[in-house]
Amino acid sequence: MTNELSRPRRSVLYVPASNDKALAKIAKLSCDAVIIDLEDAVAPADKVAAREKLAGIFANRSGGRLEMIVRINGLSSEWGNDDLLAAARCEPDGILLPKVDTPRDLLEAGDVLDDNFAPDSVRLWAMIETPKAMLNIGAIAELGRDPSSRLSCFVAGTNDLVKDTGVLATPDRRYLMPWLMTMVLAARAGGLDMLDGVSNDFRDLDAFARECAEGAAMGFDGKTLIHPAQVEAANRAFAPAAQAVAEARQMRDAFALPENSGKAVISLNGRMVERLHLAQAEKLLAKAAAIGA
Ligand code: COA
Ligand code: MG
Repeated sequence: MTNELSRPRRSVLYVPASNDKALAKIAKLSCDAVIIDLEDAVAPADKVAAREKLAGIFANRSGGRLEMIVRINGLSSEWGNDDLLAAARCEPDGILLPKVDTPRDLLEAGDVLDDNFAPDSVRLWAMIETPKAMLNIGAIAELGRDPSSRLSCFVAGTNDLVKDTGVLATPDRRYLMPWLMTMVLAARAGGLDMLDGVSNDFRDLDAFARECAEGAAMGFDGKTLIHPAQVEAANRAFAPAAQAVAEARQMRDAFALPENSGKAVISLNGRMVERLHLAQAEKLLAKAAAIGA
């Protein structure tokens, strides 16, 4: 059993709760997590019916390692509160709150979960997609240091950020970059996982693979996806590379030698290696083991 921290979240697929064909695919998907969406993928006229489907979706849940998250409508919307209660009853791995602006938004959702006796295993995930969230991101991330807040993961909401800021969406995401890197930094400060935003052009898998590689290099733990065709590339890009795993093993073995036991720094293949590199290597090996499991 992997703990929450070493749980892989390489590929996290949105599945509209109103789309039966898409829902039927869940059991066969090789993504690490799905986000059952009640928010922007569901038309207002379908919101209530989509919410009523949640219990059935979770009743069919397989015992595998797939994480199942529910994205509810914003708590200030007419659907938000009932969505939160319905989601909590399903005991998902996480409830994803959209349009989070301040730490208070998460604290209020956490209070509702506590008041309704949702088990601690029901974590909160937060969409980072508003200008206010970007300005408050340090304070929001800080909640990650308090397990009772339930906060576990940030999700970049790039489509909303583009809409709300007016920046031009370009294939290289150049105007989003400062905010994406700030999200990664804040997530690390709070001990949270950080998922990259979606790639809307789901037919161009070459461009998608490039965006995954870029996201991995930027420090994201994984990517949110909109189409099953995107799963494989994300799984590949966000898994530790074989070469990196081999080097991490070599480093662990080198530090384990009796002559290196008290050393802070050693020489390995002509490079300086410190204990901080060992810690990084051990983290990578834990991630590789979790994925292999
Ligand atoms: N999850 C699970 N299955 C999905 C899926 C998803 N996100 N997207 C598509 N599929 C399924 C389709 O139902 C279809 O199934 P079928 O073979 O049984 O007919 C199959 O994959 C092929 O789909 P395709 O025809 O290529 O795409 P589409 O035109 O049906 O759907 C979208 C395209 C973009 C509308 C759809 O992928 C989608 O709704 N994605 C999620 C959108 C979302 O959640 N947005 C909010 C967050 S950004
Ligand atoms: Mg959004």
